[in-house]
Amino acid sequence: MSSSQTLAQPTASVSVPLLDLKAQYATIRVEIREALDRVIDSQHFILGPEVEALEKEIASYSQCEFGIGVSSGTDALLVALMAIGLKPGDEVITTPYSFFATAGAIARLGARPVFVDVDPATYNIDVQGIETAITDRTRAIIPVHLYGQMADMDPIMDIARRNRLHVLEDAAQAIGAEHKGKRAGSIGDVGCFSFFPSKNLGGFGDGGMVTTNDSALADQIKLLRNHGYRPKYYNKVVGGNFRLDALQAAVLRVKLKYLDDWTAARQRNAAIYRRLFSSAGLIPTDSSTATLTNSHPITVPLETSESRHIYNQFVIRCARREELMAHLKARDIGVEIYYPVPLHLQECFVDLGYRSGQFPVSERAANESLALPIYPELPEQSLATVVDAIADFYSVG
Ligand SMILES: Cc1ncc(COP(=O)(O)O)c(C=O)c1O
Repeated sequence: MSSSQTLAQPTASVSVPLLDLKAQYATIRVEIREALDRVIDSQHFILGPEVEALEKEIASYSQCEFGIGVSSGTDALLVALMAIGLKPGDEVITTPYSFFATAGAIARLGARPVFVDVDPATYNIDVQGIETAITDRTRAIIPVHLYGQMADMDPIMDIARRNRLHVLEDAAQAIGAEHKGKRAGSIGDVGCFSFFPSKNLGGFGDGGMVTTNDSALADQIKLLRNHGYRPKYYNKVVGGNFRLDALQAAVLRVKLKYLDDWTAARQRNAAIYRRLFSSAGLIPTDSSTATLTNSHPITVPLETSESRHIYNQFVIRCARREELMAHLKARDIGVEIYYPVPLHLQECFVDLGYRSGQFPVSERAANESLALPIYPELPEQSLATVVDAIADFYSVG
């Protein structure tokens, strides 16, 4: 058979994972192993010098005076709420469009999460709704810097000061993000960070950090992190085991050196997506709208002019999401829904008395959002593969 007679072969599908941690590890393997060896040789596994060094480095990176290493982002929120003295029956304002831990930490202390809907373009708390949600039981506001872009902190801080409320930034997805030049975690009373492996700065397991500029709060969080011991075995308050491991700290210290390069790569990937989606005609040239139309079946994230967006996730809205997901999965393209059920509709919060339709922006986002691969090592060709697959879906549909 001559080459002209060769049957056309289907192009081999190239898989595009949502995240490829092995690709990142390959670039820092030697350094990481040296750091792990250092800790193993020391046999000092809990808190200690590695954790203290990481605390200083993250505090400085986040423009804060203090960092307190903790066991996870969830525990960062929990211990911070304990440190401000949150009591059963108190209320904390936050959004229903977040990872569960934001509201879970409030509920675990017997307090009530009070939800305020999100802004349709940024998915961050709609500041217009905060003031009417305040009651005489409100103690704090937790703005969530979702997907790596900070909430509109100026009006939030203004409302908090006027009403004597604490502000805990849920910065789990936003290390290094900025709002008007100020870093995530440096504006509120505390910032709560997660080092879950899929975060921009991810450990080899669970880990987290609380940042603050308030020395009294820092001291209280340190106390609570280790059973309220002061001195050891003499418990001043009831705390918990919220300690960070030295092995995690050692890994994170290596990774922190590369974080700005990785963030730049994520930002570059976001810019490539915008360009490719625009040339495919899938988004309007002015891509700041949050509304889907027949001619433009997807929207890309809005990056506000005041932001340094660190793109922990690149989340589009899309028409016919479940079908699109199936289409992408069939092509071996990794996508994920963050988050399919808004927090006010979670089974465990039935007793809060919220109902469907109460937070329409969050509910619509839960039905339309889809996270695409954006990790730093993603080759440009893979971004094109993702956009081509989405363009194919809407052209046949
Ligand atoms: C917005 C938000 N808050 C809190 C957390 C909790 O962090 P962790 O998983 O480290 O407990 C996460 C992590 O997924 C998150 O994305």
